[in-house]
Amino acid sequence: MKHAYAALFCAALAAPAAAQEIKIGYALAEDSHYGAGAKAFEDSLKASLGDQFTFRHFPSSGLGGEREVLEGLQLGTVEMTIASDGTLTNFVPEVGVLGIPFLLRDKDHARKVLDGEVGQEMLARFDDAGLHALAWGEQGFRHITSNRGAVEAPADLDGLKIRTMENPVHIEAFRALGAAPTPMAWPEVIGALQQGAIDGQENPLSVIVSAKLNEVQKFLTLDGHVYSSTIILVSPSLWGGLDDAQKAAFEKAADDAVVAMRAFVDDVDQSGVEAMKAAGMQVNELTPDQKTAFREALAEPYKAYEAQFGKELMDRIQAVE
Ligand code: PAF
Repeated sequence: MKHAYAALFCAALAAPAAAQEIKIGYALAEDSHYGAGAKAFEDSLKASLGDQFTFRHFPSSGLGGEREVLEGLQLGTVEMTIASDGTLTNFVPEVGVLGIPFLLRDKDHARKVLDGEVGQEMLARFDDAGLHALAWGEQGFRHITSNRGAVEAPADLDGLKIRTMENPVHIEAFRALGAAPTPMAWPEVIGALQQGAIDGQENPLSVIVSAKLNEVQKFLTLDGHVYSSTIILVSPSLWGGLDDAQKAAFEKAADDAVVAMRAFVDDVDQSGVEAMKAAGMQVNELTPDQKTAFREALAEPYKAYEAQFGKELMDRIQAVE
């Protein structure tokens, strides 16, 4: 009997600890910028920690819409996600400032803001919202697609039923531009476009291409009205169970995922317009003067944004060079 116990004890010592499974949910396909980020994260973690963690990917909203997945992280039923700032605004309202149209000038400006003090302060706020944020990923600048016609002036948005994210800042902006903004979770959007319940939507080229929006939309207007970021998040229960070396490996993996997402977005921003034209979309790009007309039409919401987020924060963002 004694021998049997000794053998069991030795076997327990020799057996490698069971790998911990990480369920990661995201809104788009594995061949999207989300998939690229998730894969880079997994590869990096494996390089640092070997087989301590295994990944189970749930792409294409396989675990539900972004809000539901984030609630899963809060509850500890899902370990990880990459989610858009539009949805995250409902968890840390200050993130909404990034959704103000035309506030972030270009990708270089946006990346500096997110990697700098303002972005890092916002990431730190997620712990109080029952989530742990690791790093800012990217989607690119959002553009309008529609079945009603090309958009060249705010008047072309008049009454347009445009799906927006569940982001009050975007809803207010489209309302001021004369559109009929229709907030909706992403998993419902393709069906709503197919059925004609909405005329259009807005998303970056990364999403337009990977979700094949050319199959349900005829017109693409490159207006770049707002930069769209994402955040790589883990559940507090996963994070709280990691030791310091594992935490460092997760942080490095998140940085590697950001590099992969940004490279994907740079690539699709170059190639996506031709791909969508070849797939039959009619594409127009706003001239600088046309863009100015949109900016001017947003003067009233800008006053409301200043009241909501504070002029100081908006000035700090604009001052980043
Ligand atoms: O439009 C959205 O809801 C988001 O951009 C998407 C497509 C879910 C990616 O986060």
